[in-house]
Amino acid sequence: VAKEMKLNSGTTIPTLGLGVFLVKSSKEISTGLSAGYRHIDSARYYQNEAEVGRAVRESGIPRDDIFVTTKVWLSDFGYESTKKAVQTSLQYLDGRIDLMLMHAPGDPSVRADTWRALEEAKAEGGVRDIGVSNFGIGHIEKLLQTAKVVPAVNQIELSPFLQRKDLVAYCRSKGIALEAYSPLGKGTREVLEDKTVRSVAQRQGRTNAQVLIRWSLQQGFITLPKSSNAQRQQSNLDVFSFELDDQDMEELDALDRYLVTAWDPTTSDPV
Ligand code: A2P
Repeated sequence: VAKEMKLNSGTTIPTLGLGVFLVKSSKEISTGLSAGYRHIDSARYYQNEAEVGRAVRESGIPRDDIFVTTKVWLSDFGYESTKKAVQTSLQYLDGRIDLMLMHAPGDPSVRADTWRALEEAKAEGGVRDIGVSNFGIGHIEKLLQTAKVVPAVNQIELSPFLQRKDLVAYCRSKGIALEAYSPLGKGTREVLEDKTVRSVAQRQGRTNAQVLIRWSLQQGFITLPKSSNAQRQQSNLDVFSFELDDQDMEELDALDRYLVTAWDPTTSDPV
């Protein structure tokens, strides 16, 4: 699998990114950048955009070499409040956001206006690309009725235990890239210590986490494992020098059973 792919806008995005949910200090993001991550996935809701901005600034890495995502939280949905939220996020992130997402479908009465505000932010240039997160097929279908810009991505929870084949196929049919959050099932034993995952890992001489991340990359998903630990960040990044074979992939594919470890607005938010 490639280390980068192209979004429907033509933008290049690193296929492996560092999730920073619950990460509190810029140090934990700096260790990720030092380890080699060039893609950070933040959100207003995580309350760490300023820490991401600082880590990026202090890294000495050219800004063009780093891809930063953030998200509009539900309480900022609506045309005016989204515009304001974009400005605040831009301030935290030193005037550049590579990708800004609607964090979830939220209230249908403000969804189209929120998207319109993001379209304008993209046209104005501070926000390079826009997308959605936690959207189900119905949410996307309805958004596309009024959207001028097709979302670049839909970021959803994806793992061998939660493959969402219909939603993935639908997004692909619209040119919307898939981003996988919680590829490690939030570190739960049910996912990370599963016996099939473990047996594939043993066969490959790799960690369980590396197998889960590699499975996700081989599905073509932009993959966003979270870690605030320097060693685990490093080890989770070391997934480009081995390959899961057909048998490994078949065994992992058989684990699909709609296991949600985070939250699931794709099914719970009204269309
Ligand atoms: P930590 O931040 O202490 O490393 P997900 O990306 O699926 O949401 O999972 C994140 C959780 O998995 C966090 O609790 C994280 O803890 C843990 N985690 C991340 N990488 C690894 C790893 N290589 N081995 C074990 N646990 C990990």
